[in-house]
Formats: sequence, C-alpha cells, structure tokens
Amino acid sequence: MDGNGRWAKSRWLPRAAGHRAGVSVLTPLIETAGELGVRTLTLYAFSTENWARPSTEVETLMTLFLETARSKVPELNERGARLRFLGRREHLPHRVREAMEEAENLTSGNGVIDVYVALNYGGRSELVDAARRMIRDGLDPDAVNEATFASYLYAPEVPEIDLLIRTSGELRVSNFLLWQIAYAEFYVTETLWPDFSPEEFRRAVASFAARSRRRGGV
Ligand code: FPP
Repeated sequence: MDGNGRWAKSRWLPRAAGHRAGVSVLTPLIETAGELGVRTLTLYAFSTENWARPSTEVETLMTLFLETARSKVPELNERGARLRFLGRREHLPHRVREAMEEAENLTSGNGVIDVYVALNYGGRSELVDAARRMIRDGLDPDAVNEATFASYLYAPEVPEIDLLIRTSGELRVSNFLLWQIAYAEFYVTETLWPDFSPEEFRRAVASFAARSRRRGGV
C-alpha cells in the first residue's frame, strides 16, 4: 500500500493523513475483489523494515491498525471476509496482537474472500522462521522438499501469488512474500495507494487475465 506519505505531502498534510486516506480505500477494494472472484487478497501493511521509521510514525501506524480493526472488521465480517495476519507477532504491541486475534476469531467461519494482512512481515524472516521450525521439528534434510518447506510458512494455505500490484511506481519487491511470488505477474502503477480505485483494480486484474503464463515452459 505504497505512496501514502507522498499523497499526504502533495497536499501539505502530515504523513498520518496519508495513512488514514490509505485505510479509507480498503473496503471498496476488498468488495471489488469479491465481485471479481478474487479468493485471496494480501495487503502489505507494515514490514519488518518499517520499524526504522521515526517512532512517532510507528506509533501512529500502530494506533491506526487498532482503529482500523475497530472500524473495519465488523463490516468486513458482514461482507464475508475471513481475516488472517502474516508476520512476527511477538514484537507487536500487546493491544495490536489482541485486536488481530479477535479479528481472526470473529471472521474464521467466513468464506467469500480470504484477506491476509502482512503486519511486521518480512519475506526473509518468514523463510528463516520456517527453517528454524523445521530444524526444531528434527526433519530429515533429505525429506525436505518444496511442499515440506511451503508447509512451514506463516500461513501454508496462502496460495501462490497470481498478481502482485505495486502502487506509487516502485520497481522493487521490498521483501514481500518471497516464496509465494515465484511466478507472480506484476502490475506496477504510478497511482499512489490512497488514489488506487476499484476501477484501476479492475484494470489490473483485466491486464493479468490477458497475459499468458508460461511458468518456465513454452
Ligand atoms: C506505505 O506508504 C504504507 C505503509 C507503511 C502503511 C500502510 C498501512 C495502512 C494503509 C493501514 C492499513 C491497515 C490495515 C490494518 C490493513 P509510505 O508511507 O511508504 O508512502 P511513501 O512511500 O509515499 O512515503
């Protein structure tokens, strides 16, 4: 969800206003995903690298996650979204972890769309954590194959990523779902996240649908 800061700056607003504007586009986009038949949507909300931001911005974001949980989770629940979180939970404030668990419990029976929120998430951390757990479980190295490895990821049920949308024109992966994006198609747009509309989301999915995916074949 890149570009909140620049969106705010271009309006002479504080960065927090950009993050708030970023939250306001969530529900229409999740609804659009449901209408398009997208079964899984993953949103990158806070990376393991984002702790390096000024402490005031980190605190603002943590407060915003809590507010978003309170304001959006009930309506997403009514619309049939199942919410799950990806990332290292132990480093997050206690109240944020509680809100995450409540959201997961409340929505666990829903089936219209799975919405994953990557929070304190890093693709490399996910791979390191998977390796650690495999070693702790005493797996025979020769028994480890791609399927075994995938079963140790944060949410093994997350399917491979079909389409990765990157807003604000950044041409980087930024440590996002490194395992799951192996064959992802990319859609990069200059649009800043708060301006990313359902119409553009539809265009991104249409562009994906028109591509031929060879996955290393011919
Ligand atoms: C990146 O834009 C955005 C973030 C680090 C925060 C995104 C989080 C939200 C929109 C809140 C969503 C909350 C939930 C629970 C889903 P940036 O600040 O890097 O923008 P810039 O690149 O223009 O500076």
